[in-house]
This record gives sequence, C-alpha cells and structure tokens, in this order.
Amino acid sequence: MTETGTTAVPPTDGDPTAFTFPQQRGCPYRPPAGYSALREHGPLAEVTLYDGQTAWLVTRHADARRLLTDHRLSSERSSDGFPIITPRLLTARGFRTLVTMDGEEHSSYRRMLIPDFTAKRTKAMRPDVERIVDECVDGLLAATPPADLIRDFASELSARVIFHLLGVPTEDQAGFQERSIRLLSAADSAEAEGPLAELVDYLDRLVASRGPDHGTWLLDRIAGDEVAKGELGHGDLVRMAVQLLVTGQGTTAQMVALGMATLLEHPDQLELVRTEPDRIPAAVDELLRYLSIADMAGLRVLTEDVELHGRVLPAGTGVILPYALLNHDPDVYPDPARFDVTRTPEQHFAFGFGAHNCLAQGLARMELEVTFAALLRRVPGLRLATPLDELRVREPADMQGVYELPVTW
Ligand code: HEM
Repeated sequence: MTETGTTAVPPTDGDPTAFTFPQQRGCPYRPPAGYSALREHGPLAEVTLYDGQTAWLVTRHADARRLLTDHRLSSERSSDGFPIITPRLLTARGFRTLVTMDGEEHSSYRRMLIPDFTAKRTKAMRPDVERIVDECVDGLLAATPPADLIRDFASELSARVIFHLLGVPTEDQAGFQERSIRLLSAADSAEAEGPLAELVDYLDRLVASRGPDHGTWLLDRIAGDEVAKGELGHGDLVRMAVQLLVTGQGTTAQMVALGMATLLEHPDQLELVRTEPDRIPAAVDELLRYLSIADMAGLRVLTEDVELHGRVLPAGTGVILPYALLNHDPDVYPDPARFDVTRTPEQHFAFGFGAHNCLAQGLARMELEVTFAALLRRVPGLRLATPLDELRVREPADMQGVYELPVTW
C-alpha cells in the first residue's frame, strides 16, 4: 500500500499554502498522505478546522518536545481558541477529565492515580494480564474463522485488563463490557448517552459499596483514601473510572488490531519477531511510533503569547501537535515510512509528552507485549481475511484505526 493512495491536503480556495485539518486517511496503518505537504510547508502551518476556526500546526519533533513542556500551553478545552477539530469535542467539553485539566488541579488528580501505574504495580499485574490474554486467545480459537480481531478479541481483552485494574468484580464484567463496547462504538453523542449513563450508574453504585480495607484495586484504594478523607468527591471518582475505561480500552484495542495487521503486511519483520521473541518489546515501540494511533490527542491553546520561528502566536491561539506527523520526522527517525523492528525509536510521541503523557504507558506496553507474544505463539497461521485497502478506516478526527479487522487462521 502506498502513501499516495489518499487525497492530499485539499488546498482551500486554490491557495497551495492553505491547509485543512484533520486530514483524510487512506491506508489504515499510515499517517494521512497530506502530512507530507504540511511538513514541507513547516515548521509551522496555519490550518483551517471544520468550522472555519484556524489553528497553528507544529511539524518538527524538536519544537513539539519544547512546547509540550511549556506551561503557556493549556489543555483546557473550554478556553476560547482551543482547536475543536470535530463537533464531538464540543459535546465532550463539559466532561472534565485529567486530559482537559491544567496546572495544580491536573497534578493533584494525577497524583491520586499514580500508585496504580508504577513500574512495580505493572510488573505485579503481568501474570493477571497473561491469564486474561490466554483466555481471550482461547475464546478466539474456539470461534469458527473468519473472526473480527477487534470485536472478538482485542476489545474484550483491553476491557478486561481495565476492569481488573479498577477492581470490577468478575461477576459484573460481562454486563460492564457490553456497555463499554456500546459506548465506544456509538456513532455520535446521542447514541453514547445511554451506555454512558448506565456505566456511570453502575460505577456509582460500585464506588458507594466500597470502603476502607475493601481491597487493593484502584477504585477501592481511592474510595478508601481520597474519597474517605473528603479530598475527592464520589462523583469525581466515578468520572475518573469512566475516563480510564474510555481512553484505555479503544486505544489498546486498536493498537492490538493495527499492530497485528502491520506485522502481517510486513512478513520479513513478522518472521524476525516470531523467530526472536526477545525483539517483541522493541517491535512494540516501533509499532507505537509507526502507527501513532492517538495522532489527534496533541491539541492545546496558548495562555500567553509565544514566539516560534520568528512568528509571535498570540494568547488564545490553538496549537496542534499531530503525533503521527511528529513521529515521522526524518530528522529524528531516518526513512520514517519504513516499518523496522530493529530500530530504536527513542522519544516518540505515541504516548504524548510532558505533563499529560499517558499515565498508563507502562501497562499498555506490557499488555501489547504479552498479546503479540501470545498471538504469534498460539495462532501461527493468523492472517487477514480481507485486504487492508478494503477496510473502512476511522474518521479523520478519530483515533487512527479501522472499524473491523477480519482475520482467519
Ligand atoms: C496503546 C495504548 C495507548 C495509547 C497509544 C495512549 C495514548 C495516549 C496519549 C497520546 C496521551 C496524551 C494526550 C495528550 O497529549 O493530551 C494519553 C493520555 C492518557 N492516557 Fe493513554 N494511551 C494508551 C493506553 C491507555 C490506557 C490503557 C489507559 C488507562 C488504563 C490510558 C490512560 C490515559 C490517561 C488517564 C491519560 C491522561 C494523562 C494526563 O492528562 O495526565 N491510556 N494516552
């Protein structure tokens, strides 16, 4: 599949330096073809969003590293000028979560969650994740091929790991999972309302039933510590749990599906990883860089004037740091469009960078390593049942991915 298979950036009004954002994707596992024109135009490109608002897009890795640690960039979505790249962000504006907070409010929420995401905690969770992955592979193998690797494997797997992390009782998991899958596959906010309300209601009751000394899992721990001490509201904890589920489930499921598809489309790289499984952690890192599925997460607004490359961007300007474009910067990753599991893709932005870097990146990496190892070992004949270019890619403003990935074995 080539990078030229999609429409390039549609120049507005015939002006070749006017760009729209986000860009249409063609190949499920490559960045939009239009990113090349943006990079050539960079280091800064003014882009027009769906509603006519404009924002400035940053194309260089080095600039993004600096900006993502600059306190003058805010994640507050309700601020004027924040780059609203899709109408869905408008409806989500009122739902305050870690990703939309700044400064002390953000750090104090993040501190509460950190104990559940330390390297030690992730290591301790590995045997549980291995068991969950094995059970999900059993489920896949029990089906008659073809199957959808997202619906019949990756969604369940990623949901179960988060339920486990939160401390959702096993007997409640099936109902909980059904609602979270409905929430994630909702076409719009109206369709998302029902499952979201049911999840909030369930978590609300679950948190209320917990208290000090109930257990060690995330909800128990926070309910027993911060909520009991009055440092966090009951409703805030419920919102935190919903956010973890929503951000964690879809991302990991798409990484499993697109990661497997990418390996299958690069048989030499797949063979290398299969014959030398020690390479799996490095392969996961390269997949994270190469796919950059959370391409659209780097959205910020300036709280003060910022000078960049001789241009003063005034306070209130929207700034876009497209993680896929930055992770394909040739100054940092030679021949960036080549998928190469032997490279060491240091300092990539697949998990963001700075204050908002992905809290669960250790867990996500471990889960991906365990999953790819199990699939390669236990389903050696796994292959695509539909050519990739026939699959429906997700909307440009969404996480990079596909709606389904038919496979056989
Ligand atoms: C491979 C899977 C994943 C990818 C690619 C990913 C990617 C990201 C990215 C790019 C950000 C930064 C957003 C920004 O710049 O504003 C982020 C933040 C975050 N992620 Fe992940 N994520 C993954 C898995 C998970 C999982 C499994 C969880 C939870 C269990 C999770 C929870 C979070 C949270 C809570 C934040 C917000 C951190 C903050 O604002 O301080 N992520 N993730």
